[in-house]
Amino acid sequence: MNQVVFITGASSGIGYALAKELAPKGYALALAARRADLLDILCEDVRRAGGDAIALPCDVGNQTEVKQAIADTIARFGRIDLTILSAGIGGPTNAADFQADKFQRLLQTNVLGVAFCLEELLPLMRRQGGGTIAAISSLAADRGFPSSAGYCATKAALSTLFDGLRAELKAAGINLVTIEPGYVMTPMTESFGKMPFMMQADEAARLILRRLERGDRVIRFPLVASAFMKLMRILPVSLFDRIAAKRRPIRVD
Ligand SMILES: NC(=O)c1ccc[n+]([C@@H]2O[C@H](COP(=O)([O-])OP(=O)(O)OC[C@H]3O[C@@H](n4cnc5c(N)ncnc54)[C@H](OP(=O)(O)O)[C@@H]3O)[C@@H](O)[C@H]2O)c1
Repeated sequence: MNQVVFITGASSGIGYALAKELAPKGYALALAARRADLLDILCEDVRRAGGDAIALPCDVGNQTEVKQAIADTIARFGRIDLTILSAGIGGPTNAADFQADKFQRLLQTNVLGVAFCLEELLPLMRRQGGGTIAAISSLAADRGFPSSAGYCATKAALSTLFDGLRAELKAAGINLVTIEPGYVMTPMTESFGKMPFMMQADEAARLILRRLERGDRVIRFPLVASAFMKLMRILPVSLFDRIAAKRRPIRVD
C-alpha cells in the first residue's frame, strides 16, 4: 500500500512544496489548510503527477475541525504513516503596542494547532504500531528577537514540546521530528525582501524530505544560519541585549 502523508499548511509555501515533491513518488496525500480552493487545485496537480490526494479544509486552531480532518484521512486512506505539521502564521508583536490578542492568535495556530493534531495522531499511531510526526518550528526558536518576540516564543514552545515528548514516544515506535528552518522564500516572507541565506521553498522541501528519510530527529538549516542562531542562543543576556538594541530588528516572523 502507498504510504499516507498528512500535511497541514499544504495550501502554500513549505507545505505546498512538500506536497509537490511527494506527488510523483506515488504517496497518498491528505492536505489540510483553510483555503479549500487552493487545496482542490493542488489535489488535481498531485493526481496528474501520479499520486493520490484529498483536500481537508480546516483551521488547525479549531480542535473539532482538526479531529474531523484526521478522521476523514483515516476513512479514506486507513492510516497515516507520516505527518508534517507546517501550518503556521507570523506577524509582529512590538513592545510599543503589545496586544495579547495578537499573541493569542500566534499561539492558537503555531502551538495549539500542533497540540490538537498530536491529541488525534498519538493514539492513532500507537494503534498502528508507529509512525512519524514532524512539525515545522523555526531557527527563531533559539532566542526572542525584537519585534518578533511572540512568534519566537511560539516556536520555542513547539521545539521544547517536541523535545520533551520525543523520548517518551520512542518505545511506541512514534518518531517526533522537529524541523527548524532559517529563511525560506514563501508568501510568509515575501515582504521581507532578500534575507541572509534565504532558500527557495522547493529546495527546503527536498532537504526536509531527504533528512526525514535519513531518520534525523532535529532538522535545522541552512548550516550557517543554524550556527549563527546557536551562537545567539548562548550569548550572555548583557551582550545579546546590546546587539538587539542596536541593530534593526531581525525579521523572524
Ligand atoms: N518561510 C520561512 O522563512 C519560515 C522559516 C521558519 C519556519 N517557518 C515555518 O514554516 C511553516 C510554513 O510557513 P510558510 O513559510 O510556508 O508560510 P505560508 O506560505 O504563509 O504558509 C502557511 C500555511 O499555513 C496555513 N495556515 C495558516 N494558518 C492556518 C490555520 N489556522 N489552519 C490551517 N492552516 C493554516 C496556510 O494555509 P491557509 O491560509 O489556507 O489556511 C498556509 O498553507 C510555518 O509554521 C512557519 O512558521 C517558515
